Amino acid sequence: MEEIDKEKLPHHIAIIMDGNGRWAKKKFLNRISGHIKGVHAVREVVTACRELGIKVLTLYAFSIENWKRPAEEVNALMDLLKEYLLKEYEEMVQNNIRLNVIGRIEDLPLDVQTTLRETMKKTERCDGMILNLALSYGGRSEILHAVQGITSDLQKGKIKPEEITVQHFPEYLWTHGIPDPDLLIRTSGEFRISNFLLWQIAYTELYVTDTLWPDFDRKELLKAIADFQSRERRFGLTSEQLNGREE
Ligand code: IPE
Ligand code: IPE
Ligand code: MG
Repeated sequence: MEEIDKEKLPHHIAIIMDGNGRWAKKKFLNRISGHIKGVHAVREVVTACRELGIKVLTLYAFSIENWKRPAEEVNALMDLLKEYLLKEYEEMVQNNIRLNVIGRIEDLPLDVQTTLRETMKKTERCDGMILNLALSYGGRSEILHAVQGITSDLQKGKIKPEEITVQHFPEYLWTHGIPDPDLLIRTSGEFRISNFLLWQIAYTELYVTDTLWPDFDRKELLKAIADFQSRERRFGLTSEQLNGREE
């Protein structure tokens, strides 16, 4: 078992859950079987994060670009999402997990929107961990949405141009109120961001594993956290400055 320091946990972990299709292909199954197995991995990782004391877990579950996949696959993913929420909400409440959603929720089928809203309502008082689902999510759309919000507030005179700062801008993002991720994990070996959290990952530590998402488990999560804990996050400073040894 991987040794991790409970005092230095990442506050916010974000995951690009990739590789369901390849997992299925390797087993001569259809892609949907890969997504079904992927939901098992989601359950395990959510539970593990909660037990460890992670405060925010953001899961990239469906991108805006994913709408272009075959309708059969898109429908299966929407059904799986709804089924997951209906099955898990009681456990979320028991485990003090609050559901939050980022993305163009209005794009989702109406029944899924209703289930999401109900689950958010039922878990709104939970404060142990935020499970932040990125659904019909795209980083560029999120930034444009923020720019539209800011422009509208400018026109109404609610804010002044000089108030648009690096500190203030994130309040217009879908992730408002949630700190930036400390650790971003991508499964299945691809070294790309695929339009995820473009603003928020400016100083996030990246971790890519070849493990396919359906095979990702608690052990793999601990490995990623241990790797994160071995990094020195310098935020542009020198190592000496960080260690209090500067002249
Ligand atoms: C991730 O697995 C799940 C979603 C994007 C919804 P993929 O379905 O992208 O799996 P690969 O990349 O084809 O293996
Ligand atoms: C990223 O995976 C999106 C999600 C995990 C939901 P994709 O499989 O869509 O990304 P690309 O196409 O490999 O960049
Ligand atoms: Mg993929």
